[in-house]
Amino acid sequence: MRTGESMGQTLLLTILSGLPDYLDSAVKVGHLRIAQERRAIKLEIRDLREYAQDSYRTIDDEPYGGGAGMVLKPEPVFRALESIGIDLKGGEKELGNKKAVEDPWVLLPTPKGKKLEQDDLVRLSKKRQIVFVCSRYKGIDERIREWVDEEISLGDYVIGGGEAAALVIIEGITRLLEGVVGDEESIETDSHTSGMLSPPTYTRPEVFKNMSVPAVLLSGHHEKIRLWRRKQALALTLARRPDILAKLELNMEDEKLLSEVIVEQTGRN
Ligand code: ADE
Repeated sequence: MRTGESMGQTLLLTILSGLPDYLDSAVKVGHLRIAQERRAIKLEIRDLREYAQDSYRTIDDEPYGGGAGMVLKPEPVFRALESIGIDLKGGEKELGNKKAVEDPWVLLPTPKGKKLEQDDLVRLSKKRQIVFVCSRYKGIDERIREWVDEEISLGDYVIGGGEAAALVIIEGITRLLEGVVGDEESIETDSHTSGMLSPPTYTRPEVFKNMSVPAVLLSGHHEKIRLWRRKQALALTLARRPDILAKLELNMEDEKLLSEVIVEQTGRN
C-alpha cells in the first residue's frame, strides 16, 4: 500500500520532553512521516516546560543529599500525564493505583530498564497509546517511577537523554504497523524478526572496484538464491550472534546448511 490510510487502528504516541526541538524534525521524515500520513500513528510532542509551575519553566533541580547533576522534577511529569487523561488518582498514597488503568502505556527510556528486543517492539506495536517520558538529566525523581508502566534501555551504555531512545523505540514499532513498510522492505526478512541476522544484499553495479556480486544472485534461479540467502544468514548469525542461533529451532534444511557452513569455516565435520 503506497498511498492512502493504514488498515489497522491508529497508534497514539505522545512524547513528553524538555527538549521538543530535538524531536521535531526527526518525526517529520522517513517512516514516521509516512506512518502519520497514513494514520498508522498519531504523534504528539509535548514540551514538559509547559507543565512547569514557575515563570522560569523549571523542570529540573538539584538532588537531595547532594551530588553531581540535575534531577527531573515530579510535578511537570505528573501534570503532563494528567493532561493526557491518565488517571493518577491525585494523592501521593494512591499513585501506585495507576496500574489499575491499563492504557495509555507509560514508558520511561532509561539505562536502568529492560534491554530492548524485537519482541518488545512487536508487543508495544499492539498498544493503543504509548506515552514516552524523556529525561535529559542525571536522573529522575524516583517518585516518577510510580506512574510508569515499563522502563526500557537501549543497551548497556548511557546516551544524552531519553529522546533518542524514544525515537529508536518509535521507529521500531512504527515499521511493524500495517501499511507503513512496503513489500520492497518486507518485515519478515528483517534481522531479528526471522530470529536470525539477515543475509547480505547487493545492488547495481555487478562489479565495483573489482568486487563482484555473488554469481548466484545474478542466476535468476529462485531456489538456489533462497538457499544461498538462508546459508548466509546462518553463517552470519553463527559468526556474530551464536547466542541467538543457539535459541533457534532449526529444521533439517537449516541443519544441513549449518553443517556446510561449519565445514567451510573450520575445514572439519
Ligand atoms: N537514556 C540514557 N541512556 C539510555 C539508554 N541506554 N537507554 C535508554 N534511555 C537512555
